[in-house]
Amino acid sequence: MAGPRHFLQLKDLARDELAYLFDRTRTIKARFKAYQRYWPLQDRTLVMIFEKASTRTRLSFEAGMHQLGGSAIYLNTRDSQLGRGEPVEDAAQVISRMSDIVMIRTFEQEIIERFAGHSRVPVINGLTNEYHPCQILADIFTYIEHRGAIQGRTVAWIGDSNNVCNTWLQAAEIFDFKVHVSTPPGYEVEAERAGIHGNSHFREFADPMDATRDADLVTTDVWTSMGFEAENEERMRDFADWQVDADMMRVARPEAVFMHCLPAHRGEEVSAEVIDGAQSVVWDEAENRLHVQKALMEFLLLGRVND
Ligand code: CP
Ligand code: NVA
Repeated sequence: MAGPRHFLQLKDLARDELAYLFDRTRTIKARFKAYQRYWPLQDRTLVMIFEKASTRTRLSFEAGMHQLGGSAIYLNTRDSQLGRGEPVEDAAQVISRMSDIVMIRTFEQEIIERFAGHSRVPVINGLTNEYHPCQILADIFTYIEHRGAIQGRTVAWIGDSNNVCNTWLQAAEIFDFKVHVSTPPGYEVEAERAGIHGNSHFREFADPMDATRDADLVTTDVWTSMGFEAENEERMRDFADWQVDADMMRVARPEAVFMHCLPAHRGEEVSAEVIDGAQSVVWDEAENRLHVQKALMEFLLLGRVND
C-alpha cells in the first residue's frame, strides 16, 4: 500500500494538483466569508509541532482545522520530549498513531524528512531552514486574486536567499515565471539547497534596483531568519543597501504588488512607506495562509472533492 502524501517542499505537489488547490481555496474562502459551516474533517486531529516561534502559522493551522470540523494540538520543544532528545523517528511513530495529520516547523529539512519517513499520516512543512511551502501557496494564491495568472510574470526577490526565496524559486519552475534575485555578496542562491534544476527560471543581479526593474511582484523577508540570530549584527551591515523602498518600487511595473511573509521589520528590509502603502497586499497574503492551508489539509486527507 502506498504511504501517505506529504507536503515537505512545494514541488511535492504537481502543477495540476497545485492548480486544483488554488481552485479549492477559492471555494473554501467563499464559504468561510459567507459563514457557511463546512466540516469535512470532523473527528480528525492535527498535531502541530513547533521548534521555532510563530504567530501566523500556528493561528492559521489551528483555526483552519477547527473551521473544518476537526481539532488541533500544539506541541513545542520546550515542554514535550522532543526537546529532550527523543529520536525524531520514535516521535513520528507515536504522534502519527494518535493523529490524522501533522504540521512541523523545525530547523534542517532533514529533520522533517526523517519524521515523514516514519509517519503513518501526512506531514506538512510549516517552515524549515530550507523551505516555507505553505507561505508560497498563500503568496501565489494572493497574486492570482489580485492580478490573475502568475505564469510569464517576473517576481523580484530582494535580500536573503532564505527558505522563502528557495520556495519562490521552486514555484517559478512549476508555474513557469521568472524570479529576479538580488542578495548581498556572500548570500547568493544555492541551487542545490533550493531544490531547483539550474537557472532557467531565475537571474541574479548585483544591484537590487536592476532586479526590481519591470517586476510584477516585489517581495522580501527579514535579513536574519530564525536560527541565524548569531549572525544578526553582521547581517545588519551586509544587507543595509537591500531595503525595499519607494525608489525601488518606482522602477517596478506600475501595477506591481508588494508582498512580505511577515513578521516585518520596518526600516530594515522594507520601508514603512512601502509595506503600509497602496501596492502592499501583505494583509491579504497573511489571511490567505488560512484558506490555502485548509484546502491543503482537505486534499492530503480526502483527495480531490467535488462539493
Ligand atoms: N509568515 C509566517 O510563517 O509567520 P509566522 O512565523 O508568524 O508563522
Ligand atoms: N525567513 C523567515 C521567515 C519567517 C516566517 C525565517 O525563517 O525566520
